[in-house]
Amino acid sequence: MKLTNTILVTGGAGFIGSNFVLGWIEATGTPVVNLDLLTYAGNPENLASLEGDARHRLVRGDINDAELVGSLLREHRPRAIVHFAAESHVDRSIVVPDAFIRTNVHGTFTLLDQAKRFWSSLDEDDRRAFRFLHVSTDEVYGTLGPNDPAFSEATAYAPNSPYAASKAASDHLVRAYHHTFGLPVLTTNCSNNYGPFQFPEKLIPLVILNALEGKPLPVYGDGGNVRDWLYVEDHCSAIRAVLERGRPGETYNIGGCCERKNLDVVNTICDLLDEMAPPLAAKTGHGAARNSASVPRRQLITFVQDRPGHDRRYAIDASKIERELRWTPAERFESGLRRTVQWYLDHRVWTENVRSGAYLAWIEHNYGERLAR
Ligand code: NAD
Ligand code: DAU
Repeated sequence: MKLTNTILVTGGAGFIGSNFVLGWIEATGTPVVNLDLLTYAGNPENLASLEGDARHRLVRGDINDAELVGSLLREHRPRAIVHFAAESHVDRSIVVPDAFIRTNVHGTFTLLDQAKRFWSSLDEDDRRAFRFLHVSTDEVYGTLGPNDPAFSEATAYAPNSPYAASKAASDHLVRAYHHTFGLPVLTTNCSNNYGPFQFPEKLIPLVILNALEGKPLPVYGDGGNVRDWLYVEDHCSAIRAVLERGRPGETYNIGGCCERKNLDVVNTICDLLDEMAPPLAAKTGHGAARNSASVPRRQLITFVQDRPGHDRRYAIDASKIERELRWTPAERFESGLRRTVQWYLDHRVWTENVRSGAYLAWIEHNYGERLAR
């Protein structure tokens, strides 16, 4: 039996995965089987616009479940696997690293091994056509000094957090399955994403929501850490380009050429909200009573205890994907951030739904101590 034009996506109910699934169906019109455990970070609401659409099937399950993965491959015979599923938050990896090893390392191994079995059963043409695309991160390269050149595909791995180490381990397994068994793999290492559906534990959505509500905006350390920001739709278009035109066995760095200090990002969000949202009323000296004067949201910025092992700077050299696959980002940071702020303003119900009891417990755990300093 031949391959179909279906793709198997893992983690397609998370932030980037759901943007990818929506964009994929819009761009290609071809079916997606979406395997997602629906952890705290996975949210079927992200895919509500696909309800009743026969081109999307959401399967709640674990990438560690070899039997389930194998049976999905045999049933749907996908032409590609696009692997997003992961534990993705660095701060959580400092608190509960075991979940990161389980999903990012062992889960990726299970997926690779099932992919290899399925791929081995194909005829020669289909073996050549099949792809396993592994979505990874720039954090595997470690940290940069202010004048260091940006990370290229040749930069040595030097992960510094349990999250980064687990992703690095998964990248090595992917490489090994190509080198040893010939599995046609592709790996992408992308910089920080932002945009719709990002869970509000990450810097940009956390700051948007706190600033809307007049809560402190926690900036780790001196706020001078630098990240290279990319609008999520640009990451998704890069993954489509790598899937269609990338060379098996190769890795591709993806980035927006958009380095910003955290404090500058937070200041920009404050200014956008001052312009786009109702003004933040100043508190009077009498408890919760408020007067009519408004205060700039920048006043909410609170410097808090730094993240242990906090990488100082990330920057991506994306010249390989630009040159070889003719990919470039479409969105600029300023307009992308404005779109993102508007999205959170327009989706208050989504926000309220994800900020459940478990979310509140995490916020208390991560910021209770820090803010008490
Ligand atoms: P996310 O945390 O928003 O989503 C992860 C998804 O994986 C969730 O839907 C979750 O339910 C699912 N999942 C977790 N464990 C699973 C398991 N055992 N089996 C099946 N599903 C499981 O993450 P994200 O920010 O969308 O990141 C997606 C991928 O992109 C990750 O691999 C991450 O390392 C990588 N990445 C993220 C960024 C970024 O800025 N967010 C940048 C570069 C690379
Ligand atoms: O670089 C790619 C990576 O980007 C991805 O692999 C990760 O999955 C993704 O979570 C992201 O990691 P970061 O640690 O860079 O993202 P985060 O949004 O957690 O933090 C961005 C920066 O902001 C970082 O320097 C830490 C800082 N920060 C973060 C939070 C949550 C704060 O100053 N305050 C905060 O409350």
